[in-house]
Amino acid sequence: MVVSAHPEASKIGTLVLQRGGNAYDAAVAVQFALAVVLPAAGNIGGGGFLLYRDRNGSAGSLDFRETAPSTASRDMYLNAQGNVVAGLSAAGPLAVGTPGTVAGMATLHKQLGKLSWPSLVQPAIALATKGFPLTLKEAEGLNRARADFMKFNPGSAPSYLRPGGGDWQAGDTLRLPELGRTLGRVRDQGRAGFYRGETARLLLAEMKRSGGLISQKDLDAYQAKWREPLRGRYRDYDVITMPPPSSGGVALLQMLQMLEPVDLAQAGYHTPLAVHFMTEAERRVYADRATYLGDPDFGNVPVQKLLDVDYNRQRAGSRRSRGRATPSSELTAGPSLPSYESAETTHYSIVDAFGNAVSCTTTLNGAFGSKVVVPGAGFLLNNEMDDFSAKPGTPNAYGLVGGSANAIAPGKRMLSSMTPTILTRNGKLALVVGSPGGSTIITSVLQTILGVVDYGFNAQQAVTAPRLHHQWQPDVLDVESGALLPAAQDTLRARGYRINPRLPWGRLDIIHVRPDGKLEGGADPRGDDTALGY
Ligand code: GLY
Repeated sequence: MVVSAHPEASKIGTLVLQRGGNAYDAAVAVQFALAVVLPAAGNIGGGGFLLYRDRNGSAGSLDFRETAPSTASRDMYLNAQGNVVAGLSAAGPLAVGTPGTVAGMATLHKQLGKLSWPSLVQPAIALATKGFPLTLKEAEGLNRARADFMKFNPGSAPSYLRPGGGDWQAGDTLRLPELGRTLGRVRDQGRAGFYRGETARLLLAEMKRSGGLISQKDLDAYQAKWREPLRGRYRDYDVITMPPPSSGGVALLQMLQMLEPVDLAQAGYHTPLAVHFMTEAERRVYADRATYLGDPDFGNVPVQKLLDVDYNRQRAGSRRSRGRATPSSELTAGPSLPSYESAETTHYSIVDAFGNAVSCTTTLNGAFGSKVVVPGAGFLLNNEMDDFSAKPGTPNAYGLVGGSANAIAPGKRMLSSMTPTILTRNGKLALVVGSPGGSTIITSVLQTILGVVDYGFNAQQAVTAPRLHHQWQPDVLDVESGALLPAAQDTLRARGYRINPRLPWGRLDIIHVRPDGKLEGGADPRGDDTALGY
C-alpha cells in the first residue's frame, strides 16, 4: 500500500510494488513523482528524513536534510543593529540550503533497492514531460505564489506560471519540460546527474546571478547519512522514530512518556481534562526543543537525558492541579542537562507485500520553498535556512524559537520537526505515520498515535479528526474547527488556556496494520492525499 499527498504519486508507487519492487523502490519512485506533481513540497531541491523497518524487524533512518552552505555564518540574517532582517531566511537565494534529496534517494536505492534506478525515475520524467492536470488545491497554491515566482525569477519564465498569464484553473495541464530533462540526467547519472555536470552548472549559475551561497564545494561535500533510529515504548507498542537533527522523534517520545501514566480513554476524547494533559506535555517538550536540540554532528544533543523516564515524569508532575494551564512564561527548559556546545512539507507511508515499511517526510520548508526556480533546470530550491535559529529568541516562520544549539554554521543541518515514525506491537508492524506542517508535525503525529492507540480510531478516523497544537511559545492553544466543543473551550479558557482558532494544518498519510494483518490506509482529506492498495 502507498499513501501519499497526490494520487499520481500513489499510483506510481503501487505500480512499482506490482512489478515486484520493494517499499524502498516505491519510495524512490514516489519521491521523484512528488517532485513533479506536488511542486509546493515534493522536491529534488530540498531534503527529508526516511525511516524504515524491514520484514525481519531491523530498522534504520536516512537523513537527507539540507546543510548550510560553507560560506553561511551565524549572523548572516542580522543587520548592523543585530536585528533579524525580515524575510531574508524565508525566500530568495539566501534562504537556500544545499539540497539533499537526490543524494538521499541514491543512497537509499544503493543499499536497499531491488529494481533498476532508471525504471524508478522514469515515471516522474514522463509526468513532467507530458504534463498532468492540476487539482484545485494545486492551482490555488500556484496562483498564491505567482507574485513571488515573478519577484525571485526575474528575466526567466518559470514553468510554474500559467502560459499566457492569468490564474491556473483546476484541470489545466502543468508541463515541466526543464524539470523532465533534469530528472533525465538523474536517471542516467544518479547522484552526479544533480550534484555535477549540467544540473550543477545551472544551479551554480543561478547562485552567481542572484547572490546565493551554494558552491560546487557544497554540492560535492553533501552526504546523506544513515542514523540509528530512536526507540521508545508507549503502552503495548514499540515506537521507532527519527533522531536528531530532527527534534520530532525526541519530542514525540518525551510526550508519550509524560502521557503514559494518564488514562486518556477514561479522561475522554478532547475533553478539557484530556486536552490539559496533552497540552501541558507539548508545552514542556517544546521548551526543551528550543534549548537543547540541534544537529548532533555539531554539538552534544542530550538525547539520553531528554528520554529519561524519570526526567519526563518529573516535568509532567509540574502540571497544575484541577486542569489549569501552566503559563509558558513560568516554564523554561528542564534544568541540569548538559548544554549544546558548540507549512510545506509532505509525507508518504509505504508497506510492501514482503512486510517492509517506509515512513518518509520530505520538504522544501515553505510552500514552493525559496520560490527560486533554477533557470534551465526547472526545479524549486528550498528555504530550509529558516529552520535555523537566526537569533536566539527570535521566532522563525513557524513561531519556533531556538538558541545556540540550532545556530547557523557552515555544513550544519538545520533542526527539523519532521517525525517519520513506525509502531510495532508484539514484534509485528502496527502503524506507519508522519505528516507535514512545520512545528505542528510533532503534535499531529502524537494525536494520530493517541487516536489509534488510546481511542481505538481506524486509520481514516485518526487522520481526519480535527487537531490541537501547543508549542510553548507563543502561549496559545491552536484549535482546528470542530476539535473542541464550545463548552470545552469555555472550560479551558476559565482554566487559563488561550484558545486560538486556526485554519486546518497537517496532512497525515498513514498505514495501520490491523490485528488480522490487513492494511488500512488513512489519507488526509485536508489535501489531495490518496491511499492505494494493490
Ligand atoms: N521544514 C520543516 C521542518 O523540517 O520541520
